[in-house]
Amino acid sequence: MSTTRDSFQSRLGFILAAAGSAIGLGNIWGFPTQAANNGGGAFVFVYLIVTVLLALPALYAEMYIGNQAQKNPVGALQDACEDVSRNLGKYAGLFGLLGAILMLSFYTIVAGWMLAHALSPLMELIGFTDAAIWLGESSHARNLAFTPVFIILGALIINQGVSKGIERWSSRLMPILFVLLIGLIIYILQQPGANEGVAMYLQPDFSQLQDPMLIISAMGQAFFSLSIGVGGMMVYGSYMKKNANMGQLVISIGALDTLIAFLAGLLIIPTLFVAQHLGLEVFADGKLIGGPQLIFSILPTLFDSMGDIGVYVALVFFSLMSMAALTSTLSSTEVPVAYLVEDKSYSRSKATILVSLIVLTACMTIVYNFDSLFGLIITWVNTFQLPIMGLFYFIVVGWIWKRGNQLADQALLASKPSLKLWGNYLRYVCPILLSIVFISVIMAL
Ligand code: PHE
Repeated sequence: MSTTRDSFQSRLGFILAAAGSAIGLGNIWGFPTQAANNGGGAFVFVYLIVTVLLALPALYAEMYIGNQAQKNPVGALQDACEDVSRNLGKYAGLFGLLGAILMLSFYTIVAGWMLAHALSPLMELIGFTDAAIWLGESSHARNLAFTPVFIILGALIINQGVSKGIERWSSRLMPILFVLLIGLIIYILQQPGANEGVAMYLQPDFSQLQDPMLIISAMGQAFFSLSIGVGGMMVYGSYMKKNANMGQLVISIGALDTLIAFLAGLLIIPTLFVAQHLGLEVFADGKLIGGPQLIFSILPTLFDSMGDIGVYVALVFFSLMSMAALTSTLSSTEVPVAYLVEDKSYSRSKATILVSLIVLTACMTIVYNFDSLFGLIITWVNTFQLPIMGLFYFIVVGWIWKRGNQLADQALLASKPSLKLWGNYLRYVCPILLSIVFISVIMAL
């Protein structure tokens, strides 16, 4: 195919799209609850260290490979592994692609719940109380309706392409998300009980630092939050002008992702204490309730008890969640779509339809086997898929890939000591650190 590849039109558009992929349920739901249950400020502190030392370098490696190759992840890894074995690159790329589908298979279900919860207050406002109740209660029928709705929303954007779809929608939704989040924080912090939550969130309990699981949880959270390991960031990197300054871009994306996670903590944890103030149960066994019960039971009950304004707060909160989830699914969907378009000569719309059907099938398989599959797939993606791929990216950038890799170009490295240091860091320190953490995870299972 000789047509030119679609691409991001501006650096800001690229940053917002990549931040859109990064900022998702992991930030607004995962990060606050992990922080609350792992020593508050101490978790935030460890999270920052792990992000800087390992997650941002992994994000750099992933985006850099894509940017140099200007191809979808399967093609990009094939090129990067050329000197050793193109097949190695191909299968690694396909493994990432499978990870993207698995990530979508559970994430889209949860995203559908968010969307249903966002529509529920709307229905209440226009007087459709029965519909509002149905939307707010988990049911098979709701999954069967809302998982496809969410897949279709993502597909409509992906089908419009990179600049007209992904970039345009991320540039619209991310600023709205930010404003809604700030608005909610301001409102919640004025409610009785909120201050206690702020104190719990920000006061570090450094005794928890001795727990090795803390580093493991922080790393898992950081990789998931930065969307590392399924090729989504690689394919976004490939849509950026070749040789763009990836270092700077990665820092901006990491800073935005971490900022939103931090702000989400400032929303969720005080909200829980406001709920407690109103008599709701928010602790179980001395830990804050963090799972689905937090989002889909405690929060809605809290919003209900807030009086007239509660319905608007619920609307804003779940719209925020839905937007965050939507922009996060775009990058994972783009991975198989770009592969089908570039390597299998599909038209973009055919590829989008096929990928949507595959994701729908995967989602429905989970919906019908929820108890056995849902948790299992989340664990697989978080514990294995993301770190293994992260490790592979380090090995590719540091060891396997020679031609066209500035970090392996001896002449360039000799003239730029900082580049050499960075190259050696990615080559030696990162894979060793990541392997240590990864082995600890396996041993802790
Ligand atoms: N980073 C997203 C979040 O925080 C999740 C995600 C993981 C998106 C992997 C794409 C790929 O919710």
